[in-house]
Amino acid sequence: MPTVIVDGHEIEIGADERLNCIEAARRAGVEIPHYCWHPGLSVVASCRMCLVETGTRDAATGKITMVPKLVPGCQTPARDGTVIVTDSKLVRDSRARVEEALLIDHPIDCSICDKAGECLLQDYHFQHGQPERRTDLNPFHSRRRDVGPTVTLFVDRCIMCTRCVRFTREVSGTAELMVANRGSKEEIDVFPGFPLDNKLSGNVVDLCPVGALGDKDFLYQQRVWFLKREANVCGGCSAGCSIHTEHNQDTVYRLKPRDNPHVNTWWMCDDGRYGWHHLHAPDRLLAPGRAVSASGEREPAEWHDVVTRLRAELEGSRLAVAISPMLTVEEAWMLCAVARSIDPRAALHLGHVPVRGEDERFPAGFTIRAEKCPNRRGVEAVLRLYEEELRGWDDLVRTVADGGVDAAWVTAGYPGPWIDDAGAAPFDRLRTLVVQDLFDSALGKRATWLLPAAGFAERAGTWVNVAHRAQTFDAAIRPPAGVWPEGRLYWNMLGRRGLYDPHAVRRQIAESSTTLAVLGGEIPPVGVDLRVEQLAGG
Ligand code: FES
Repeated sequence: MPTVIVDGHEIEIGADERLNCIEAARRAGVEIPHYCWHPGLSVVASCRMCLVETGTRDAATGKITMVPKLVPGCQTPARDGTVIVTDSKLVRDSRARVEEALLIDHPIDCSICDKAGECLLQDYHFQHGQPERRTDLNPFHSRRRDVGPTVTLFVDRCIMCTRCVRFTREVSGTAELMVANRGSKEEIDVFPGFPLDNKLSGNVVDLCPVGALGDKDFLYQQRVWFLKREANVCGGCSAGCSIHTEHNQDTVYRLKPRDNPHVNTWWMCDDGRYGWHHLHAPDRLLAPGRAVSASGEREPAEWHDVVTRLRAELEGSRLAVAISPMLTVEEAWMLCAVARSIDPRAALHLGHVPVRGEDERFPAGFTIRAEKCPNRRGVEAVLRLYEEELRGWDDLVRTVADGGVDAAWVTAGYPGPWIDDAGAAPFDRLRTLVVQDLFDSALGKRATWLLPAAGFAERAGTWVNVAHRAQTFDAAIRPPAGVWPEGRLYWNMLGRRGLYDPHAVRRQIAESSTTLAVLGGEIPPVGVDLRVEQLAGG
């Protein structure tokens, strides 16, 4: 096995691995500070913060020969016999000088900077900077420049790492950002009339190691040290990007991509990034209601009433159920069980699958999917346990229109409008219609029972993405008061005791199905993927 020596500790690396010194040192638990390097971008080695001493150890004699100068760790490959020294006086002095140079012109405006608390300039100054400033403090400027609809640039905070410029050239392929001027006058800018306006633009804010690029949606909304983060999955499309939901007091403030080499690497799209506001929309459904007149008047109901009355009202009906691709695998499985316990011949259908345009693929491979739901594959896998043939939303509407059923239970939970009056008209003829949704709709107006649904950050369970990769997650926030997540309702309707426990349901699913057995294994920490390709074949 190739061996690298980091600060005297030997670590083994894979024979085919192409690591630089930063990555090799990380394996040894040593963090080499860096600004301009990012694993998803080309290497420019311009900030010089990662300078280290390196050398080689002769395999035969064990003699170490050091390079007589510091080298950038980001640009220097770590091979068999590479020696890396990260804590010598030479290295420490170099880091302190880089920090000093960066801070000479940097505005000391941390108290009003959105990045404070997660700023590498701050962190590295405390870890590697000099205790005293050797220059006068200049009055600072904080010029702000609007570079696009989602991003603002605080020009004087920039340390010219150029991560953002490389991102727009290499990942989004849009190249809106550039370096204007030269030498000490260098600045990030856009060409007049060509703003930073692409579907991945929010990633440049994540990439910025200091507070130069600000996300307009998050700017001055919350200090980052108040935020808690939960490893979640984006529900915006079938890509199922791994994300962190950052929240405080049951309010989401921002979504950030979570590194996942199998799904989204380091990125997420702006549709997903800013696609959480509906969770806190004032017109969300907040309590169950039962229609009391044909004109759509409803009386509020208690959830415990819903559990008993719903079953009683549906019993004896020919029932069709639409299982929304916004539900988790666990919720879908329980809903199927509830439906079949009410009507053993209940027709189980995949719910409405929203599709918008075509898949959008970017130069570095990141793809925004046209299918705007996160768990079609998971719901299909569950349906295959119950039905010989997969049937979709259109089949259900046809069955309802033909009078094949006299009751329907439609789960939705889409973040926006999804059905119009014409689409909902066939449901007029049903005796009982149950609708579970985030917002009222043309279908909701026809519902006998209209039940509130949970949003993506309020659910726990498993989603299976377009590549048949299952990701398990916990709820980040609690739903608004009065809302039961779907899983809780089904859990109670199945007569299960105690609080809804998606882990228990997952274990039960795995025991009852060979195709879904993989979900029952030792579930790794939240957010780690389980490869479940066999779901594809049923
Ligand atoms: Fe290596 Fe910037 S991270 S020079």
